[in-house]
Amino acid sequence: MTKKPTTDKLLQELDDKYKAIHQNRDVHLEGLLHSNSITYWDYIHTDALLGLQIQRTNLPDEMVFIAYHQINELIFKMILWEIKQVAEAEPLIVDIFQDKLMRISRYFDMLTTSFNVMREGMDVAQYNKFRHTLTPASGFQSAQYRKIEFASTELINLIDIRFRANIDRNTPFEHAFEHLYWQAAGKDYKTGQKSPLLSNFENRYKEEFITFMKVYNIKNIWSRFNELSHEDQQNKALIAAMRHYDYTVNVTWVMAHYNAAKYYIMGKDGDGTATGGSNWQKYMHPKYQKRIFFPELWSQDEKDNWGHEVD
Ligand code: HEM
Repeated sequence: MTKKPTTDKLLQELDDKYKAIHQNRDVHLEGLLHSNSITYWDYIHTDALLGLQIQRTNLPDEMVFIAYHQINELIFKMILWEIKQVAEAEPLIVDIFQDKLMRISRYFDMLTTSFNVMREGMDVAQYNKFRHTLTPASGFQSAQYRKIEFASTELINLIDIRFRANIDRNTPFEHAFEHLYWQAAGKDYKTGQKSPLLSNFENRYKEEFITFMKVYNIKNIWSRFNELSHEDQQNKALIAAMRHYDYTVNVTWVMAHYNAAKYYIMGKDGDGTATGGSNWQKYMHPKYQKRIFFPELWSQDEKDNWGHEVD
């Protein structure tokens, strides 16, 4: 049990703290006499949080759609929070790396196992009514999802497979950005024309993304893994955790998402088109994109069959 400091010691420490910033300790202590005590709702900001679910229609299941997306964004935030700590850890100790990786992985497991809230939790007819008020927006425009990708892997692994041979570490970030795999969802490569889905997204986030890409170019999960000792990099539990994370993000979650899209968009009330306007069936299936964060940890056979086994 940790020993509690005595009142005298606490007063001395407070005195030291405030002297260091040229403040009078006793004025701060007097303030305590009048301050309100904390409540759960003030601390968690429940009123603000619960006021953020604003529907565009009067269809009740739109609330499920909005709230679940917001829950996803909160979990994305927690994932980025852990990745940042891996990126900034100095020195990087294998136990910390492993602990953070497990947290990140658990969060993505949560997102995957809960995706039924989308797949089974909404009335198809209602979904196909309220979704028309969302065009041309899409979850595609989740900036945090893109940041998780930039922060997880080497940039080359996010480049559209058709352009990888001409892009390397000397390629300017702007050029690499134009060839990210997700450009395919909103760009006509023959004319260079971008859809509103993509141009709206870039107008809002492109500069932020380029800065983020530069920072994580040398601090992403894979580059930090490479900084571990040779022995730590051979650690079987760590490799299994890395593979699990890679597969969960790039196959399991993607398939849960794809199956939900198929269910609603191709169902009897769906019209086959996505709100963001992408060629979504081909774009979303993992066997076409073959997105892999840590290709070095998979055999050639596993890579060749990426996304095929879940068909
Ligand atoms: C019924 C539920 C959903 C459907 C039908 C759906 C459908 C789609 C479609 C068709 C796309 C392709 C882009 C487009 O043309 O719109 C897409 C992309 C995307 N959606 Fe969803 N989505 C659903 C739920 C979610 C949820 C809950 C999230 C969590 C934030 C999400 C995040 C994303 C992301 C990150 C992308 C881009 C993925 C990529 O680039 O590979 N979606 N979605």
